[in-house]
Amino acid sequence: MLVNSALVVALASLANALPSGLLARVVDAETASQTSYDFIIAGGGTSGLTVADRLTENPKVSVLVIEYGPFDQKEDGVLVPGAYFPVPYLWLPLFSTPQTALNNTVYGVPCGRAVGGGSAVNAMFFHRSSAAEYDAWDDLGADGWDWDGLLPYFKKSETFHPPDAAYAKDRNITYDLSAHGTSGPVQASYPPYDYPGSKNFWNAALRLGIPTIKDPNAGEAIGIFCLLHSVDPANQTRSFARTAHYDRVISARPNYHVLPNTAVGKVTFTGTTATGVEYIDRASGAKSTAKATKEVIIAAGAVHSPQILQLSGIGSKSHLQGLGIKQLVNLPGVGQNLQDHLVLTVNYNYTNNLFPNGGSLQSNATYNAEQRALYDARQPSAYDITATTGNLIIFLNLQNTTSAAKYQSIVSSAKSLNPATLISSTDKAVLKGYANQRNAILNNLIPAGEAIGDISWNTAEATSIYMTRPLSRGSVMAASADPLADPLIDFGAGTDPTDIEFLLAIYKKNREIMSQPEIKVLGAQETSPAPGLTDDNAIKAALKAALQPSNAHECCTLAMMDRGQGGVVASNLTVYGTSRLSVVDASIWPFVTGGGPQATVYGGAEKAADIIKKRHGI
Ligand SMILES: Cc1cc2nc3c(=O)[nH]c(=O)nc-3n(C[C@H](O)[C@H](O)[C@H](O)COP(=O)(O)OP(=O)(O)OC[C@H]3O[C@@H](n4cnc5c(N)ncnc54)[C@H](O)[C@@H]3O)c2cc1C
Ligand SMILES: *[C@@H]1O[C@H](CO)[C@@H](O)[C@H](O)[C@H]1NC(C)=O
Ligand SMILES: *[C@@H]1O[C@H](CO)[C@@H](O)[C@H](O)[C@H]1NC(C)=O
Ligand SMILES: *[C@@H]1O[C@H](CO)[C@@H](O)[C@H](O)[C@H]1NC(C)=O
Ligand SMILES: *[C@@H]1O[C@H](CO)[C@@H](O)[C@H](O)[C@H]1NC(C)=O
Ligand SMILES: *[C@@H]1O[C@H](CO)[C@@H](O)[C@H](O)[C@H]1NC(C)=O
Ligand SMILES: *[C@@H]1O[C@H](CO)[C@@H](O)[C@H](O)[C@H]1NC(C)=O
Ligand SMILES: *[C@@H]1O[C@H](CO)[C@@H](O)[C@H](O)[C@H]1NC(C)=O
Repeated sequence: MLVNSALVVALASLANALPSGLLARVVDAETASQTSYDFIIAGGGTSGLTVADRLTENPKVSVLVIEYGPFDQKEDGVLVPGAYFPVPYLWLPLFSTPQTALNNTVYGVPCGRAVGGGSAVNAMFFHRSSAAEYDAWDDLGADGWDWDGLLPYFKKSETFHPPDAAYAKDRNITYDLSAHGTSGPVQASYPPYDYPGSKNFWNAALRLGIPTIKDPNAGEAIGIFCLLHSVDPANQTRSFARTAHYDRVISARPNYHVLPNTAVGKVTFTGTTATGVEYIDRASGAKSTAKATKEVIIAAGAVHSPQILQLSGIGSKSHLQGLGIKQLVNLPGVGQNLQDHLVLTVNYNYTNNLFPNGGSLQSNATYNAEQRALYDARQPSAYDITATTGNLIIFLNLQNTTSAAKYQSIVSSAKSLNPATLISSTDKAVLKGYANQRNAILNNLIPAGEAIGDISWNTAEATSIYMTRPLSRGSVMAASADPLADPLIDFGAGTDPTDIEFLLAIYKKNREIMSQPEIKVLGAQETSPAPGLTDDNAIKAALKAALQPSNAHECCTLAMMDRGQGGVVASNLTVYGTSRLSVVDASIWPFVTGGGPQATVYGGAEKAADIIKKRHGI
């Protein structure tokens, strides 16, 4: 409960006096430090705001969310899909360490930094992963985080808007209503517009026997489907954690505070019981502390949550010693197990492409103005589609992307590798957890035909290949005790050579798709990364040079696994060896799943909120 009752009254009357939408619940550093909260949430991103919303449904429960970034200003780049790219709200500049398997290249690390976090800047693709992947999480120690345990929360998180029936029939959009929610905060819809070239892509896939999928969010997704978006169809604007879990509720929630532009530096403890946080005003550099009587909840995303724990004394002894930080809890898994989806852009030149296409908004000012006018008049238009992306995606497994012999050789080579030589941690528990993950992937998920990646063509130059089943693991390690210094982010991209074999298999499948008559007729010619190359080793070298280690889907750095397997949080979300400290963001995933992460982050945060409410009797 809020102890500062004068503040409650002041806020309540302020809220009444202000038009709705004004940020009456935004507090300053001083107010936050003088108020005793039930819960403090470090990070106001996708998961942080979801949990804050659910906890403050009870007016007696007070929550402070501390967010490093600002509120967005409702710019077109944030809200309008066709105007997408909200650069001001990315964490910039932020770089990886030199990637040893990729010629020591340094890459940018994309992640969101705003109220709403990644959901404020993401490409709005909204899909879950396959049931078998969540079931494997449960097997690895995340008890209850299997498909059956998550499905009710996936539904709770969303309102699914079926497309117009005639449009759906024309575009081959199918869905399974029984897998969806009808009254959740995040709005999910299909863009009501598409480019003519999507039909060519669809039919090229069908010609190769690639199956169509009734609904990829129902637990199975191998084949081609139309992407669902986190877009509110009422006005075709982004639906994100800020609109769904803050704007929607805040006028009635004097118990829900947000402190923006502020970095959480570390968690404060009495013994091993969390009591609050220390935070830094980014403008002035001033440090303050705030108290939480029930729980401190970490939600700073997979790149920054490990840094907060490490600066709080939770991690491996040698690492903390090197930073001059006294160890509070020995948890060598903190910051290990970093995973992401790898991205390879394959560009084509089309001598005879259809108009309009995914590049027309950028290349044709007349078309752009025409489409924007339609959008502003609430008519279907190219502005309904996330800029420069396509509506269709093909999920592929290893069996269907390569020959039976090659499949066998890739899997058996992968099994012959010694896990201990593939990751930087020498901790026995961390190694055991990694070995278990490799077993789950190589002996279970891959043989069962689960996806290794996907392909999407934007109907213009770019085809995007996503390799979603990495066996390589990276790490996030605080570089100094300064909370405002960037951590060392090592994706470990390609350190297990199996990942490059997976990528090569998808790349070759993409060549096959793009050489079908439906695409050939458009005059498709590969221009990068490996035009004309036919030798596998030469192609692999070209792919490695063009590869991006991150699709902004960082996860898994505070894994929910057994402590004896390098796990950091228990299945009830608490950090091992501590009390009143939990983690709710994408850091807790044992391994990265095949779909885009946001739907799973929202569902997981809904589940997390229920677990936390239950243990505090709220
Ligand atoms: C450019 C981009 C495109 C993407 N596209 C898609 C997509 O199309 N589909 C999809 O499913 N997913 C997509 N994602 C990924 C998805 O948005 C993320 O997986 C998801 O937002 C992660 O949620 P989270 O709660 O774990 O972390 P986040 O949403 O990242 O939230 C973490 C928050 O914590 C804050 N923070 C960090 N450190 C501190 C600190 N020390 N103190 C206080 N606050 C702190 C950050 O500023 C951030 O706001 C994309 C992400 C990006 C960046
Ligand atoms: C590796 O990087 C170096 C230095 O940037 C560059 O000169 C070299 O061509 C690169 N090698 C490959 C194979 O890309
Ligand atoms: C829909 O699928 C049918 C085949 O079942 C195909 O003939 C048609 O071209 C497809 N339409 C689009 C828009 O992809
Ligand atoms: C690919 O694999 C799936 C299941 O593993 C199968 O159902 C599908 O029909 C296969 N074929 C093609 C050509 O993709
Ligand atoms: C879009 O419509 C929703 C639902 O009516 C509304 O809540 C939201 O404020 C609107 N957003 C914008 C930017 O107009
Ligand atoms: C792409 O095709 C055009 C002809 O339409 C040609 O003039 C151009 O040189 C090609 N570009 C590349 C990079 O191949
Ligand atoms: C540009 O867009 C206009 C309006 O849609 C269209 O009539 C014209 O043909 C386009 N030009 C090109 C070169 O595609
Ligand atoms: C959470 O689970 C761990 C491991 O099972 C247990 O030790 C701890 O007491 C639990 N914490 C709470 C608050 O339920």
